[in-house]
Amino acid sequence: MDDLATDPALAAAERVRALAPHHTPSIGIILGSGLGGLADRIEDAVAIDYRELPGFPVPTIAGHAGRLVLGRLGRANVACLAGRVHLYEGHAASTVAVLVRTLHRLGCRTLFVTNAAGALHADAVPGSLMLITDHINFMGTNPLVGRNDERYGPRFPAMSGAYDVALQRELRSAAISLGITLREGVYLALLGPCFETPAEIRSLARLGADAVGMSTVPEVIVARHCGMRVAAISVITNLGAGLADEVLSHEHTLRGSDAAAADLQRLAIAFVQRITDSA
Ligand code: HPA
Repeated sequence: MDDLATDPALAAAERVRALAPHHTPSIGIILGSGLGGLADRIEDAVAIDYRELPGFPVPTIAGHAGRLVLGRLGRANVACLAGRVHLYEGHAASTVAVLVRTLHRLGCRTLFVTNAAGALHADAVPGSLMLITDHINFMGTNPLVGRNDERYGPRFPAMSGAYDVALQRELRSAAISLGITLREGVYLALLGPCFETPAEIRSLARLGADAVGMSTVPEVIVARHCGMRVAAISVITNLGAGLADEVLSHEHTLRGSDAAAADLQRLAIAFVQRITDSA
């Protein structure tokens, strides 16, 4: 049953189709803190403010514009969420589902997610990129809590293989061909908004995580629930608390993402090109 009244993503997708009738995106992209520059590279772009879309939450922090941008990156048809909502802003985890499901409703079967993250190892280089191979959900919540929406997926979705191995291969190959060093690792998500204590950073590293952040995991869970293929990259903006002699701040995160923004844009464009050409 497709019901406009009970599915905000359906209503939002209808609105998007009305506003951008010639766009047929197949790849969804979610941009992290300070990484919005990629949206400006989209050609034939139609940008829709989140406020125009039913069910879309309005982000509240600097570095997050709140636009859905449809268009082309090279030959790839993309729909880009520039302006992520974070759970620490007070949004219900289930709200994140609306954004990802709208991309799915628009025809996106692949989701590429980016974020800013702190490294859990002292030898990581701020401004470098990390391919996410798996995640640990320590947010204390889950976007699928509540009645399961059977229109999208099962009550108990599997999360092994959440980060598609074929897409990981494409990202590795794209990075090699561009001369970009791509580390790999496990992303651990906390609720935030505090940065971690040094003791937390030490314990998260022992748990097997390589980077820590406050996003991405809710979107990935929703995308996997409805069967989208997922790939994700962390921009390592800083070393975790206690690993370097500095006090963390959001400006710090934005500066770190600036340093890596050019590499991330080149990698993202090459990646969407590759998967479009091999489709
Ligand atoms: N911790 C949590 N989230 C982050 C960090 C960090 O050190 N850097 C960027 N996002």
